[in-house]
Amino acid sequence: MKNNAIPLDLAPMAGAGDRAFREVVAAFGATGFTSEMISAKAVVFGDRNSFALAEHGNLESPFYIQLFGSEPETVAGAAEALTARFPCDGVDLNFGCPVPKITKNGEGSALMRTPEKCRAIVAAVKGAVRVPVSVKMRVGWDENSLNAVEVALACEEGGASRLTVHGRTRADLYRDGTLRPGEIAKVVRAVKIPVLANGDVRDGESAAALLAQTGAAGLAVGRGALGSPWIFSRIRAALNGEPPPEVDKRSVMRRHVALAFAYKPFAAAGEMRTHMAHYLRGFRGAAALRGAVSTASTPADYEAIIRRLPPDF
Ligand SMILES: Cc1cc2nc3c(=O)[nH]c(=O)nc-3n(C[C@H](O)[C@H](O)[C@H](O)COP(=O)(O)O)c2cc1C
Repeated sequence: MKNNAIPLDLAPMAGAGDRAFREVVAAFGATGFTSEMISAKAVVFGDRNSFALAEHGNLESPFYIQLFGSEPETVAGAAEALTARFPCDGVDLNFGCPVPKITKNGEGSALMRTPEKCRAIVAAVKGAVRVPVSVKMRVGWDENSLNAVEVALACEEGGASRLTVHGRTRADLYRDGTLRPGEIAKVVRAVKIPVLANGDVRDGESAAALLAQTGAAGLAVGRGALGSPWIFSRIRAALNGEPPPEVDKRSVMRRHVALAFAYKPFAAAGEMRTHMAHYLRGFRGAAALRGAVSTASTPADYEAIIRRLPPDF
């Protein structure tokens, strides 16, 4: 049963990996969770919405609060403020976000260009909190600067206790066919701390392949969990050579709707539309439901869609 020890975390996803979704995923055995990314500057300015993102509830699996920012003192101050208020098992630092409005401020994946700054941010946060500090990074800024090992060593020196490496460069964005497992493998060999490999895990087969190609201690799964929160139990079963467990998809969707409206009554109306579209992805009858999904805004609207799903959904 040694495969039960391999960490299978839900990768952080702003706008999708909120508390409700994390709770849904937890039922399928994901081993760890990270908040949506939170702006360190916004926390330091006391922005309420940013604080709300750090709320997690009482799930048993470890929970990391993720911050992005480029000034060591600001990120450390935000980490101190959030960990003082919200129970968590660690602070994760975002050195991977490719979005221009983040990178133009020198934040997210722009930090891959300055390993020394990465080290300083990790060290400052480490000095400010009592919980472990981890890092989520890419493998470089572009293919001419594949410097994941340098950044990873800098983070380890700064005091990081774990790394999650998305095997793409900033320039790769999320494009299909650009994952570079070999670059993740170099990081795994270079550092002493555990590394989670991340990118394009969609099923048991791709999970086993990424583990084998990288030698990583575990995996973080992002998009593969959208519309398929049960992917975690399927991957675990596949790694153990067991058949995929049965899932009652309708009850998972009902629970997701209930939790989303309970935690964010105002935002859930719209956010559930995106999740519902993911649940219906690849389903033959999805086109007939598209209109209902695009106008759904109450739990009853979502229930009506779920009731229209055929028995073999
Ligand atoms: C909608 C969306 C939001 C994301 N938000 C974050 C985030 O807040 N913090 C972060 O570190 N990565 C974020 N990511 C990146 C994922 O954590 C992950 O690294 C990436 O999607 C590749 O893994 P995957 O192929 O399993 O999805 C996001 C990705 C997506 C698709």
